[in-house]
Amino acid sequence: MKTIDNIKELKQHLSEERGANKRIGFVPTMGALHDGHISLVHKCVNENDICVVSIFVNPTQFNDKNDLITYPRTLEHDLSLLESAGCDYVFTPDEKEMYPEPDKRFFDFGRVAEVMEGKYRPGHFNGVAQIVSKLFSIVEPGKAYFGEKDFQQIAVIKTMVKQLDQKVEIVPCPILREKDGLALSSRNVRLSPEQRQKAPLIARVLEESTNFANERSVQETIDFVCNSINKEDEMRVEYYEIVDSETLEPVNKWSDSNDPVGCITVYCGEVRLIDNIHYNKAF
Ligand code: PAF
Repeated sequence: MKTIDNIKELKQHLSEERGANKRIGFVPTMGALHDGHISLVHKCVNENDICVVSIFVNPTQFNDKNDLITYPRTLEHDLSLLESAGCDYVFTPDEKEMYPEPDKRFFDFGRVAEVMEGKYRPGHFNGVAQIVSKLFSIVEPGKAYFGEKDFQQIAVIKTMVKQLDQKVEIVPCPILREKDGLALSSRNVRLSPEQRQKAPLIARVLEESTNFANERSVQETIDFVCNSINKEDEMRVEYYEIVDSETLEPVNKWSDSNDPVGCITVYCGEVRLIDNIHYNKAF
């Protein structure tokens, strides 16, 4: 495995690999890797000849500066996990390398970027699109792998790829969970032991809501989820919306969508956790 921190050198290696007809797969990350990321890397390794992983904590996607400062950084550990997972190239640029000048691009992706995270984290998806579009132009992967925990991010990136006519297939990968159901996230390490005990409530309530939904309306299901979580001390739902998985249009009646998905953000103390559930598919 080669660790490279500059664009020119990475492009050089990848152009040689491409010249040898190697299929290049890509997993963009912000580091602090956990088994969820590693499952993307395994899929990438299995489906391509060359697996490239980037590690870059992208400042332009953090609307909350404190979140950027406290974002966990564990490079040495990340590198050893990637080596064991069979990654070929790790790209570890610094901010100067990725943004020699401020990126002034403003993207308009319409509704998919405006609702939910778009509303509560203004500018977040613009920053994600800035960095992911740059990374795609550097790596030029055939396939790129993203975790479905960031459900809306996948919809935004698919829209970006269409808009910029980038030739990469976006591969969504299932959420990985702890035994108690908590979705794996780099932010979980910031939970206190008490908060860590409470956090699985999110997944538990989402799962229960799929049974509840069989007999109830969409609005009743939303209320059930919010009330069940907000009851718990230190837990506060920021939003819970049930939307169509493709368009992210709100689902008002179950018959509005073939694949209604519930997307939730919960503050557990200061830690912002997200999760989602498909109502027509098994958990
Ligand atoms: O999902 C993430 O970790 C980030 O948003 C991404 C895609 C690596 C862009 O910085």
